[in-house]
Amino acid sequence: MTKYVINGGNPINGEVEISGAKNAAVAIIPAALMVDGVCRIENLPQISDVTTLLSILKEMGADIRAVNKRTVDIDCTRVKTMRATFDTVRRIRASYYLIGALLGRFGNAYVTMPGGCNFGGMRPIDQHVKGFTAMGANVSVKNGVVSAETDKVLRGATIYLDVVSVGATINLMLGAALAEGNTYIENAAKEPHIVDLANFLNSMGADIRGAGTYSIKIRGVRRMSGGSYSIIPDQIEAGTYLAAVAGAGGRIVLRDVIPKHLEGISSKLREMGVTVVDLEDSIIAQRTDPLLKTHIKTMPYPGFPTDMQPQISTVLCLANGISTVTEGVWDNRFRYVDELAKMGSLIRVSGRTAIIEGVSNLTGASLKASDLRAGAALVIAGICARGETTIEGVSYIERGYEKMIQKLSALGVDIKAIYTPDEPHLEEQEAV
Ligand code: EPU
Repeated sequence: MTKYVINGGNPINGEVEISGAKNAAVAIIPAALMVDGVCRIENLPQISDVTTLLSILKEMGADIRAVNKRTVDIDCTRVKTMRATFDTVRRIRASYYLIGALLGRFGNAYVTMPGGCNFGGMRPIDQHVKGFTAMGANVSVKNGVVSAETDKVLRGATIYLDVVSVGATINLMLGAALAEGNTYIENAAKEPHIVDLANFLNSMGADIRGAGTYSIKIRGVRRMSGGSYSIIPDQIEAGTYLAAVAGAGGRIVLRDVIPKHLEGISSKLREMGVTVVDLEDSIIAQRTDPLLKTHIKTMPYPGFPTDMQPQISTVLCLANGISTVTEGVWDNRFRYVDELAKMGSLIRVSGRTAIIEGVSNLTGASLKASDLRAGAALVIAGICARGETTIEGVSYIERGYEKMIQKLSALGVDIKAIYTPDEPHLEEQEAV
């Protein structure tokens, strides 16, 4: 069994470099399938979701060459298959972007339904299906495989999303980039990684306007050719380290960030008594005074991100007074609360709201991560708690956080990973 072991209870200090954004990378890698020629993708995070997606493309016939640890050249010219129905595809959620990419390129796609982080039970894709159907595809699901077929190519359409969905916005943008005619996505999601994908596609020859607003216009082009593109920094990874210093106290500097992308998180931390100073591409965060209670509701960007909800709730366990955190995106994302209770936290969940009564300290315990961000929250809890915390289920964490152990060690955290031979550590896995 792989575990992280943390001896916590001390402030953290130092600098941490933020990696490329996971949720941008997992959209941009499938997008490479639509490009004729070599795409160079820079600033890829070294995380297992990226490794898995690259291996999926390779299995489909792509030529992939690692230029360095963070840069790959992907050439999908020789990919002839419209099928991504092998086992690896099920391993990550973002595999569903293969539907948009393959539909855009070939007019047909057969993709195994993805798994991935599983909180809140089912994660529907009805908005993706609604959009592709409006663009002329026949979509059906049989034996866990999504089949999406057109006569020849997707046709542009106007699609009004019933819910603000990051995944549907990205998937439809992919399909529309090579569709015939114009596509309008209304009530689109506005997350920074949506803008990043649009910038990537535009740099390869697509014609996408309005990404980052609720109305995106895509003029379909006949082909996209190669180029090179660097992925934006990961705002959630950055936010996770900000939450860590808020909980543990101390002073840290985040390097290679876009402070604007973190405004929703930074402004809440300021309300909680943390000093957060935005510089051009770095952030200084310091917490010396007691933490103050606050009230948070997660929302699509630019609201407070759901992917920071477990981490911030964990920090609020140590704030003065009673805080509330309402989950506004997912039905159920509070499974980590039972784990925090083992450390002495006082959280009651009522519907979509966690009511958190601050305590003066947490105590180390044996914990189990249930998904990526829950795992990150437990690491923060371990850093803040007195004594030893062990965390199982760390493969979830390694799906989305690059070198968390090394980065935290550099901040003075006493943390180590204990790996067993039967569960290979990310660095022992093949790079591509
Ligand atoms: N929804 C529908 N129908 C759909 C699609 C979504 O009802 O067809 C609902 C969902 O049930 C949810 C809401 O819409 O209640 C938002 O879902 P969205 O589609 O935006 O989520 P996603 O694309 O599946 C991405 C991130 C998640 C992040 C959400 C929300 C990736 C690979 N995943 O998921 O990130 O929580 O957006 O911001 O980009 C994470 O990184 O830990 C993570 C889970």
